[in-house]
Amino acid sequence: CSSIGIGLAGFGTVGSGVWNTLQRNGDLITGRTGGNVVMHIAKILVRDLAKTRSTTTDAPAEMFTTDWHALVSDPAVDIVVELIGGTTDAFDIVAAALRAKKPVVTGNKALLAERGPELFAISRETDTPIHFEAAVAGGIPIIHAVQASFIGNRIKSFSGIINGTSNYILGRMTDAGLSFAAALQEAQNLGYAEADPALDVNGWDAAHKAILLAALAYGFTVDPEKIHVSGIEQVRPTDITFAKNLGYVVKLLAVIREHPSGAVELRVQPSFIPQAHILASVHGVFNAIAVHGDAAGESLFYGRGAGQDPTASSVVADLVEAARTLRQPSGHRGFLPYQESGELLPVEETSTPYYVR
Ligand code: NAP
Ligand code: HSE
Repeated sequence: CSSIGIGLAGFGTVGSGVWNTLQRNGDLITGRTGGNVVMHIAKILVRDLAKTRSTTTDAPAEMFTTDWHALVSDPAVDIVVELIGGTTDAFDIVAAALRAKKPVVTGNKALLAERGPELFAISRETDTPIHFEAAVAGGIPIIHAVQASFIGNRIKSFSGIINGTSNYILGRMTDAGLSFAAALQEAQNLGYAEADPALDVNGWDAAHKAILLAALAYGFTVDPEKIHVSGIEQVRPTDITFAKNLGYVVKLLAVIREHPSGAVELRVQPSFIPQAHILASVHGVFNAIAVHGDAAGESLFYGRGAGQDPTASSVVADLVEAARTLRQPSGHRGFLPYQESGELLPVEETSTPYYVR
């Protein structure tokens, strides 16, 4: 079966994470897909060819280009991954890929929240999918959960922490007494923040994600101009101390819920959460989203909400989904053993008491 070529637009934090993950786990993916999905990166788009790249990737220089038309139109590219960010060039790349009938994978929530309706219209016209698991909550499979596992539910609400950078900053201000600026710098160094970190701290990154969740759950386009959004910029160390003295922690919370009238409430704002509440123990870059479905009841999704490897994990999951659809549109998705045998730890070693640390 011939290898599927990927055009990787963006080779920053997430793009290089995708390269590394495919290098590391490509054979595993091929095995798990019954030999149907073999993928390789055919071309990489960047802004600056002269930039020194991380030594952890060994992508050959001849793969790189600064010409997105060349990437999208390359016959060796079957799927386009958009990881450059922003809403202008990214829009042009995604629209051109869809028009060329090349499935798209993106982690760009700003693009989908602001210009999603135009792109999904092209996607429908051309019958070419856009996959976007990485756009909401990094490595947490919340998009698949809402699109698949909760499909039979009326969604009553989502509430949670969906921006890793602001959660990290609030935590470092609280626990280490760092200034806002120093904590933000750490989040940037760790690859959590957006290229424009204003979006993280002014609440708009979380709002973009909330808009996507609301659109999936309620089926209509949310106009970003019509929602209330406030971020953590105004949170001062005294607010954190005040909250602590009252038995609360401060978290940037996103809330989406359907009111009995049918109206959908959507808000992002710093909120006081009781110290004993489960969301109060979501620390650092972790995100947590409670989804309340009328049939399933409440489920909590928890995991790393940003960063290189967790986000790459979601991108790669979407890539496999896109590649499977190209190779085996109605293929079997169930359990398929893909190796002769495996090793189990001897039972004597697992019969001793187990302590949770
Ligand atoms: P990043 O580190 O800033 O990397 C961006 C990459 O895109 C760089 O390789 C850059 O090229 C390239 N690029 C930017 N503008 C370009 C243009 N106009 N033409 C060609 N190449 C261009 O960004 P990132 O953190 O990987 O984020 C990428 C996307 O994933 C964003 O949409 C972000 O919201 C989303 N996302 C990020 C995370 C995260 O934890 N970082 C998590 C979830 C989703 P150079 O290398 O030459 O500068
Ligand atoms: N900047 C985002 C965050 C990346 O900190 O949550 C993940 O979407």
